[in-house]
Amino acid sequence: MAEKKRILSGMRPTGPLHLGNFHGALANWINMQEQYECFFFIADWHAITSSYEDTGEIKGYITQMMIDWLSAGLSPEKNTLFVQSLVKEHAELFLLLSMITPVPWLERNPTYKDQIVQLSNKDLSTFGFLGYPVLQAADIIIYKANGVPVGVDQVPHVEITREIARRFNFLYGHVFPEPESILTQTPKILGLDRRKMSKSYNNAIYLSDSPEDISAKVSQMITDPNRARKADPGDPEICNVFEFHKLYSPQDVIDRVNTDCRVAKIGCVECKKIMAQGLIASLEPIREKRRYYESQPDLVADMIVSGSNKARNVAQKTMEEVRAAMKI
Ligand code: TRP
Ligand code: SF4
Repeated sequence: MAEKKRILSGMRPTGPLHLGNFHGALANWINMQEQYECFFFIADWHAITSSYEDTGEIKGYITQMMIDWLSAGLSPEKNTLFVQSLVKEHAELFLLLSMITPVPWLERNPTYKDQIVQLSNKDLSTFGFLGYPVLQAADIIIYKANGVPVGVDQVPHVEITREIARRFNFLYGHVFPEPESILTQTPKILGLDRRKMSKSYNNAIYLSDSPEDISAKVSQMITDPNRARKADPGDPEICNVFEFHKLYSPQDVIDRVNTDCRVAKIGCVECKKIMAQGLIASLEPIREKRRYYESQPDLVADMIVSGSNKARNVAQKTMEEVRAAMKI
């Protein structure tokens, strides 16, 4: 059998996972776990860069994130699931890479420039925030990953990672492969208010939401904005509820909504109720596994430790090569 390609990806533990995170990343990871040798990790140091004044919740979010992953079907046997800060080698490689990374590469990073504008309520003028992609490069190349499944917003970071790897290899000899982005199809589903689904907009449906929460949230969803009354025909093409139907309802329901909405034969209240049922049913297996893992905190803690030990073994080998190449 040909050797499986190695991929790596990470998420910052900034809160419980919502459906946007699930379809934008986690569902894709779950699909990749057979085909690739996968390293998935919780990037807790990266979570500090934009919230260094308020670090108190990160630890709790790490456990919650691992439970979200396991409940959704990410396997701790098939993959290496770990926590960044439990593998200190990432910090050592970050330091060494920072010696060879030109500051202008970081200053012209589009994600960096975007975030400074978007998160104007936060002080992002720190060395750590500027160096975010250097830490991310260390995360990736310390495992010699070939591919990095990410959304479009992260592609510039993978690009910088390639440049840093190339520069290291040029200066000290070949140690690192240049990883490629594996683009995740991002879902069309939006938040309840039709903005991007996000914890900070308070418009998200979480994997951990109860059926009651889901029903209540779905009933608040904004539908086709041009459909004012039930007697008005609607347009599913521009309705966020219909996007949810496409993901969570059986085909006959999707077809019926698609025709009946256009001739005002179905109202939005009913349509949402049907969708909520499908969504609640689709998420039930995840909720069931969550109940199991939440009742076994020691098991989850052990999985975090053993996954991180597995990762560290690989990271330590790479660091030996790095120090040898650099003659330090
Ligand atoms: N920056 C990524 C994000 O915010 C998280 C991350 C950190 C990451 N290190 C990584 C993703 C390495 C992929 C590979 O989503
Ligand atoms: Fe959207 Fe359904 Fe209302 Fe049509 S009936 S506008 S698909 S919620």
